[in-house]
Amino acid sequence: MIIQSLELADFRNYETLGMEFSEGTNIFYGDNAQGKTNILESIYMISTTKSHRGVKDRDLIRFGREEAHIRAVLIRNGIDYKVDMHLRKNRSKGIAINGQRIRKASELIGLLHMVFFSPEDLSIVKNGPSERRRFMDVELCQLDADYLYNLNQYNKIIDQRNRLLKDIFQFPEMRDTLEVWDEQLVSYGRKIIERRKAFISGLNEIVGGLHEKLSGGRERLVLSYEPNTDADTFPDRLRDARDRDCYLKQTTTGPHRDDFSFSNADIDLRKFGSQGQQRTCALSLKLSEIEIVRQLTGDRPVLMLDDVLSELDSSRQNYLLDTIGDIQTFITCTGLDEFVNHRFTIDTLYRIEAGKVSRMSGPAVL
Ligand SMILES: Nc1ncnc2c1ncn2[C@@H]1O[C@H](COP(=O)(O)OP(=O)(O)O)[C@@H](O)[C@H]1O
Ligand SMILES: [Mg+2]
Repeated sequence: MIIQSLELADFRNYETLGMEFSEGTNIFYGDNAQGKTNILESIYMISTTKSHRGVKDRDLIRFGREEAHIRAVLIRNGIDYKVDMHLRKNRSKGIAINGQRIRKASELIGLLHMVFFSPEDLSIVKNGPSERRRFMDVELCQLDADYLYNLNQYNKIIDQRNRLLKDIFQFPEMRDTLEVWDEQLVSYGRKIIERRKAFISGLNEIVGGLHEKLSGGRERLVLSYEPNTDADTFPDRLRDARDRDCYLKQTTTGPHRDDFSFSNADIDLRKFGSQGQQRTCALSLKLSEIEIVRQLTGDRPVLMLDDVLSELDSSRQNYLLDTIGDIQTFITCTGLDEFVNHRFTIDTLYRIEAGKVSRMSGPAVL
C-alpha cells in the first residue's frame, strides 16, 4: 500500500495543499502548532473515516468555512484508488472512491491500512483498559469487515439496552423486554470475543520475538486476552447480572469491558512494569501490528509516527528506524537530529510552517 498523493482543502489550518509522497520515508518537520499532525490526521481519516483525536467532523473544517475536502490517491496491489472525502459542518460526510459515491462511510474502512504511533501510545500499557480495547478495535476494524459490522451492531445494542435499563428503573414492568436485547447482544458479542481472542493470539506469536530483540534478550513478553466474559458463558453471565444492571442502569457484562495484559516472567507489566519496560512493550506492540497486517493481508501498511521519535531513547530510536524497512512512512518531528544521529536516509523532507508546506530535497538539506 502506497499513498501517492494528498490534497487538502479547508482542512484544519490548510486552505489548499497538494503533495506527492515518496514510497519510502516522508518527513514533516517544523515548529509546534504549524500543522504537522493535521496532515497525519487527514491520512488517518482516509483510513478509518474518523480522526485519531476523537473530534467531530465539524472541528476538522477550517475555521470560518463550511466544508472541507481530503483527496488521496492510493496504490494497492498495482491498482489506483482515488478517494475523495467531503466533510460538512452539519451533515454527515460524503465519500467517493474512483468517482463512485459510497453509501456508508464504513465501506471505505479496510482500503488503506495504516499503523499510527504517537507519544500517547507509549502509555498503552499503563493506561486503562479502554485504550487497549481501542487498539484492538482500530486494528481489527481495518482488517475484518465482519468485525467492524459486529462491533457497530454490538455498540448500538449496548446503547439501547442501557437506555432501557434507565426506563426499567422507573417502570419495572418493562424488565421482560431485556430478553430480546440480550439475545442480540450475545450473538454479536460472541463473535467479537472470538475474533479478539484469535487476534491477540496471533499478535502474541509475533510480539515475543520482536520484544526479545528490543529488550536485548532480557525479556519475554506475553500478551493475554482478558475477556470480561467467555463466549460460552456470556448468556448466563448476562442473566446473572440483570439485577445489578438494573440497579446500576448500565450493562456490566460483555466485551465492551474486555482487556488484555502484558506480562514478563508472570509479572503483570500494567501494574508492576517500570516506565522503560512499559514503553518498550508499547513499541513492540506497534511493530507487531505492522507484521500482523502483512501476514493477514499480504500487503504493507502505511506507518505514521507522530512526534514519537524524540520520546524514545537512542537505542529504541535506532531499533524503530531500522525496522521501518520497505514500508511507506510518514514522520513528524520538530528537529532532524534523530535522523542525522542514526544516519537515516530520508526520501522526502517537507518543512511545515503555518499551514504551508515546502518540499526540501532529502539528505542534501541535512
Ligand atoms: N479547524 C481548524 N481551522 C484552522 N486552524 C486549525 C483548526 N484546527 C486546528 N487548527 C490549527 O492547527 C494548528 C495545530 O496543528 P497541528 O498539526 O496539531 O500542529 P503540529 O505541527 O504541532 O503537529 C494550530 O495552529 C491550530 O490553531
Ligand atoms: Mg503535532
